[in-house]
Amino acid sequence: MKKLISASILSANFAKLGDDCKKVLAAGADRLHLDIMDNHYVPNLTFGPMICEALKNNGIKAHLDVHLMTTPVDKLIKEFAKAGATIITFHPEASHHIDRSLQLIKDAGCKAGLALNPATPLSYLEYVVDKLDEVLIMSVNPGFGGQKFIDSSLKKIQLARKMLPKQVRLAVDGGINVNNIQGVSEAGADTFVIGSGIFKEANYKKTITAIRKKI
Ligand code: DX5
Ligand code: ZN
Repeated sequence: MKKLISASILSANFAKLGDDCKKVLAAGADRLHLDIMDNHYVPNLTFGPMICEALKNNGIKAHLDVHLMTTPVDKLIKEFAKAGATIITFHPEASHHIDRSLQLIKDAGCKAGLALNPATPLSYLEYVVDKLDEVLIMSVNPGFGGQKFIDSSLKKIQLARKMLPKQVRLAVDGGINVNNIQGVSEAGADTFVIGSGIFKEANYKKTITAIRKKI
């Protein structure tokens, strides 16, 4: 499976968001990761479907990977699908009916993902695996960029890779940088969500090239 770098725009320059997104894609990022935070499911507030739509309408052709950290999720699934999301991922604890929410994503024509917090068990995946295109292992507690990678995530990534069919992508989100990405890749991840590890560096191209060499 192709290894993908998904640049998390949480750490981008919001005053120049469109330009910063184009810059990171031109530097080699494969897709953009949009963190949707509601100040309820997580203690931070970001943005809604308007921004997703604006990026799409601003000539950005890359896949938009929408990470919902909101409760409830179903209404936003429809709105983000309409706004141009390629993949929509939500947290199982945030939905009353996980299977239904996954089906809503599929019905809207998007790829579906489930995000698991550091303490959330892999057993959530067992009965919905046929509806999953991607699993997102959180290697920090969701809510903020720039946190430290939680080392117990490596074991979880290994176990997740063993239990998932090979066509299901295994993404990891939080605290990834050029120094630790090799271990994350070796544990079995194929998709790397990186925010501050790219956007806080002066030279995106140099950083992404160095990162890609390690995966
Ligand atoms: C955290 C978000 C992440 C965040 C990662 O809740 O889901 O996507 O942007 O940022 P870094 O790479 O800085 O840990
Ligand atoms: Zn995220």
